[in-house]
Amino acid sequence: MNMKQRTIFLISLNSLAILVASVIFFLIFIVHVKSPFEVSPSSMLELKGSSARFGILIGVLTRADLYAHRHFLRMLYGIQSSPLAEIDVKFVFCNLTKPEQRILIALEIQRFNDIVILNCTENMNSGKTHMYFSSLPRILPRLYNYVMKADDDVYIRLEPLARSLAPLPRSDLYYGFVIPCNSMNPFVEYMSGMGYILSWDLVEWIADADIPEFYRYGSEDKMVAQWLKMGNKAKNRFTNKPAMYDYPGTNGRCSHELIPETVAVHRLKRWDQWSRVLEYFNVTRQINDSKLYHF
Ligand SMILES: *[C@@H]1O[C@H](CO)[C@@H](O)[C@H](O)[C@H]1NC(C)=O
Ligand SMILES: *[C@@H]1O[C@H](CO)[C@@H](O)[C@H](O)[C@H]1NC(C)=O
Ligand SMILES: *[C@@H]1O[C@H](CO)[C@@H](O)[C@H](O)[C@H]1NC(C)=O
Ligand SMILES: *[C@@H]1O[C@H](CO)[C@@H](O)[C@H](O)[C@H]1NC(C)=O
Repeated sequence: MNMKQRTIFLISLNSLAILVASVIFFLIFIVHVKSPFEVSPSSMLELKGSSARFGILIGVLTRADLYAHRHFLRMLYGIQSSPLAEIDVKFVFCNLTKPEQRILIALEIQRFNDIVILNCTENMNSGKTHMYFSSLPRILPRLYNYVMKADDDVYIRLEPLARSLAPLPRSDLYYGFVIPCNSMNPFVEYMSGMGYILSWDLVEWIADADIPEFYRYGSEDKMVAQWLKMGNKAKNRFTNKPAMYDYPGTNGRCSHELIPETVAVHRLKRWDQWSRVLEYFNVTRQINDSKLYHF
């Protein structure tokens, strides 16, 4: 290299260094300027940790044709929430059987996206509950900590429900209203079909294990307890009495008067029963005055 070549070489090295430095500076600048507008991964973790809301899926097992009743239940659950838990309510039924269902239920899905259609023929004690739990891990777009199976004649109060679950184990849990009516021992017999909860690990177990698959038929609530017993599962159990019960006067010792700490009232078959429950829990109390209506 002669003197001239050497100078040119050094100059180009210099400009390269300046170029690299500018690029680095520019990158730092972008990151710096952007950061106030973006949540960094570490603060996202903090947000998650501090809220620590757990997830509950409530599947209301019902029939495709009960459009008006679904609409009513949607209102009841649509106006409830809990700061403790993220709670999704979905309506679960078997295969559609009539042409109009394909249109009317597609309409509901379009508007509410809260329908689950299982691959079964409509039934109560011939495997629908098994199909429900065992399908979930495959079909749900997200995980939940707990999955509930609920009847469509039960009123569930979401905030007391979440509060009762918050201190309980997140795994190997079987929660509900233990039968017989007067029993307080959740390790004997089974949780009433009005509404019982399984932790997610048990839902996965039902999906994978042979025992539930083999014993699909029979009273659905009894069968769930049977699976858990045979599989030596659900070491954690919780019977929520007196907060869960049958509507006053409808079912002997499973019934009692409405009480403020209620989580679930079951056997609501008539409008006068529903309205008495809603009135008791002050559900419509905050309605504002308006010229548009009068009571
Ligand atoms: C539904 O189940 C039947 C067996 O009972 C099976 O042949 C069919 O492929 C399933 N359909 C869907 C959509 O999963
Ligand atoms: C339910 O419908 C699906 C899709 O049409 C069909 O593949 C399946 O065989 C039906 N299952 C039953 C049990 O009728
Ligand atoms: C409903 O509201 C009334 C009046 O504020 C109150 O006394 C009662 O305890 C409330 N009921 C429940 C179940 O919270
Ligand atoms: C009643 O009015 C208050 C204040 O305007 C409003 O925040 C609230 O949502 C209203 N309640 C209902 C049930 O419309």
